Amino acid sequence: MQEFSILAPDDWHLHFRDGDMLNETVPATARCFKRAIVMPNLAPPIVNTKMALAYKARILAATPAEHDFSPLMTLYLTDNTSSEDIIEASKAGIVAAKLYPAGATTNSDAAVSSLENLYPVLQTMSEVKMRLLVHGEVTDSHVDIFDREKVFIDQKLSIITERFKDLKVVFEHITTADAAQFVLDSSENVAATITPQHLLLNRNDLLVGGIRPHNFCLPVLKRNTHQEALRQAVASGSNKFFLGTDSAPHEKQQKESACGCAGCYSAWSAIELYAQIFDELNELDKLEGFASHYGPDFYGLPRNKEHITLERHEWQVPSECTLKNGESIVPFYAGSTLNWRLKIPQ
Ligand code: DOR
Ligand code: ZN
Repeated sequence: MQEFSILAPDDWHLHFRDGDMLNETVPATARCFKRAIVMPNLAPPIVNTKMALAYKARILAATPAEHDFSPLMTLYLTDNTSSEDIIEASKAGIVAAKLYPAGATTNSDAAVSSLENLYPVLQTMSEVKMRLLVHGEVTDSHVDIFDREKVFIDQKLSIITERFKDLKVVFEHITTADAAQFVLDSSENVAATITPQHLLLNRNDLLVGGIRPHNFCLPVLKRNTHQEALRQAVASGSNKFFLGTDSAPHEKQQKESACGCAGCYSAWSAIELYAQIFDELNELDKLEGFASHYGPDFYGLPRNKEHITLERHEWQVPSECTLKNGESIVPFYAGSTLNWRLKIPQ
């Protein structure tokens, strides 16, 4: 097969950042995705409807006129989030709220410290049908970083899904066989996103032969058996797993540092990376469900109507992209050769 078309995809989890960075990140995503779930972990975080709508306007202002792209906004849950905040957000079209355990990742210091305090908010979310998005890691210092997702399932997520059976929950960027199995064993109200890096890489790609800061993200890459379980999950064609890149840019000097930031900036090659993965799995016909059907179905939104075409064509991911302020970002998979390319309509 030299080319194929699929219904236009959406990205159900990414980070656009703010300010000048939007002129880089929004066009990169809008080139192939029609919608994206925009993470609220700015500094300060997006904690209410007013902030979310203002952020949405800034994203739309950075969207090139030739692209028909809709950002889907989210709220950042804190210890101070109220049921009224949720009701107001839902009325304003905000589709989801994000649970970061405090201290879990970039700009998560304001996040929820006690799950129990959040129960009234989760009850309201369930009633107004707002999705709960979870960063599934505990942050207790005594828990090994490689075990944090599994412990989160056992200590937190299983309690949320048991207690709030009608709440639709997306377990974001899953990284372990345990997470994939948890999702499969849960009701139809529980689904997961999977990133390109967790399908393509394992922790050897982070640590063998020297530290590779551009492969560092959170939750951190796990051992190869977990990578294999995630690949099997997408290859199964289950509608519980869908596309969410977690594209998360940091300036080059913030990644290549003594204390490097977590995040892979994959927007420039996102759909091509997923095509490569499904091709390697010999399951290219399952890409469309993963990229374009199961996400909108889970969110209760219409599927896109347009199509995109991918053509078999070798190209190299650029080694850097330069921002207007002169800073550079190293894209995920920089310098690697990919076999599929988005065909731009003539
Ligand atoms: O690697 C990550 N980067 N994981 C996250 O959860 C957050 C993200 C970011 O915002 O940089
Ligand atoms: Zn993320």
